[in-house]
Amino acid sequence: MLSRIPTKAIKRSLATIADGAANPARIYGGLKDQDRIFQNVYGKFGHDLKSAEKMGDWYKTKEIILKGDKWIIDEMKKSGLRGRGGAGFPSGLKWSFMNPPGWEKNAGPRYLVVNADEGEPGTCKDREIIRKDPHKLVEGCLLAGRAMNATAAYIYIRGEFYNEATILQNAINEAYKAGYLGKNACGSGYAFDVYIHRGMGAYVCGEETALIESIEGKAGKPRLKPPFPAGVGLFGRPTTVANVETVSVAPTILRRGGDWFASFGRKGNSGTKLFCISGHVNEPCTVEEEMSIPLKELLEKHCGGIKGGWDNLLGVIPGGSSVPVMTKETCDDILMDYDALRDVGSGLGTAAVIVMNKQTDIIRAIQRFSAFYKHESCGQCTPCREGTTWLNRMMDRFYTGQATEKEIDMIFELTKEIEGHTICALGDAAAWPIQGLIKSFRPVMVDRINEYNKTQSVGLGGWVKGGKVMDGKVIDNPLPAHH
Ligand SMILES: Cc1cc2nc3c(=O)[nH]c(=O)nc-3n(C[C@H](O)[C@H](O)[C@H](O)COP(=O)(O)O)c2cc1C
Ligand code: SF4
Repeated sequence: MLSRIPTKAIKRSLATIADGAANPARIYGGLKDQDRIFQNVYGKFGHDLKSAEKMGDWYKTKEIILKGDKWIIDEMKKSGLRGRGGAGFPSGLKWSFMNPPGWEKNAGPRYLVVNADEGEPGTCKDREIIRKDPHKLVEGCLLAGRAMNATAAYIYIRGEFYNEATILQNAINEAYKAGYLGKNACGSGYAFDVYIHRGMGAYVCGEETALIESIEGKAGKPRLKPPFPAGVGLFGRPTTVANVETVSVAPTILRRGGDWFASFGRKGNSGTKLFCISGHVNEPCTVEEEMSIPLKELLEKHCGGIKGGWDNLLGVIPGGSSVPVMTKETCDDILMDYDALRDVGSGLGTAAVIVMNKQTDIIRAIQRFSAFYKHESCGQCTPCREGTTWLNRMMDRFYTGQATEKEIDMIFELTKEIEGHTICALGDAAAWPIQGLIKSFRPVMVDRINEYNKTQSVGLGGWVKGGKVMDGKVIDNPLPAHH
């Protein structure tokens, strides 16, 4: 065979092999302990100031403050950090919006607001930071605040996190006592205060403008944008809302350098990341790993693998309940980063990895999410208020199979009417899981419908023979509702 191939072709093929050996494809993952930012995520040490200082927190903070806002923002841009609250917007760029030309002339308070609401189902990373590494967050507030020329930080923490709020308040008190916060923070001459504001546990209050409304003492209903918070934010003043993890990684990035952080993960997706893995794995956990780690390695190395083995995997929701589910075929070789997951029609979101094995009723899982989004809609916009209710009712019927196949297309169409037509992204979050279900598991939905229709035939809207409305009430027609 070989003799029949022209010499030129042989040369080219050999050259390709040689090139491959010289530049082997980089494999991501395998983060070393010394490169972990959250050294205390498993609570091996105390969460007090002394323990924090032993782990390197508050080291040369004064020097970093004195380097000034421009230096800090440039370093954050160099690091390639993207917001860890879900949207993945570049943090250095976002923080720079607080300092437009002439910002000094707008005298008065300016705020950093830290989003510690952590309401996205499956997400459990910010609470771990606050429980075990609270000083990373407090120091991060000071440095991110300095970058934005903010006068104070408000940390908006979910009301249910009572113990976490106590630990955080203690860390703030310690920092004031040590002179790290206050009128002359770390002896730098920069004045900075940190306050905690406890929320009441509404998911929508995690949306940045609803969160601002809530701190102002109003109902947590998202504001229309523009104006964006950097122009008109908390109490009408320039404000930036940032996630706990985003703020907490800043001090280490500034100490070790933006280039160090950028050396992890694929281009455009850099850094280390806390992944929270739940569901059908042998050992659910929150773990810091290199961005772009293959999903399979993440699950097998840190979570003891799938219950029943890799071949028993049904699908994975990689970024909290708001992103579409991926099938096993996609999971086989997907990398865990913003771009790779977007390219397969899902998203990294909060990196809350929800694993489902073949024993999962996938329709039931997505139906439960629909109930959640309906419950959490603030009701301001019609597509979300009405749409989430419709989605929920239809998903209740898809769960039992009391539906027609045509309604699968109808619910898909309904999600498209909600997506992109609302004030905040809660509408999109309600739509995407259902779109994912239909794209990846339509045959399962059809089987469920066919099974139900063997017992009694169903018309559009879930009507069965004999079902009717009397005195404004549905009678003789099953009304499923299982949450
Ligand atoms: C309905 C809804 C809920 C949200 N919940 C949270 C949350 O709990 N925590 C969070 O950090 N971001 C949440 N976000 C995203 C925030 O609006 C905002 O983008 C984020 O806090 C910005 O931080 P980052 O730039 O550090 O990512 C939510 C967004 C929406 C639409
Ligand atoms: S999308 Fe939903 S939650 Fe967001 S503002 Fe509109 S009604 Fe409220």
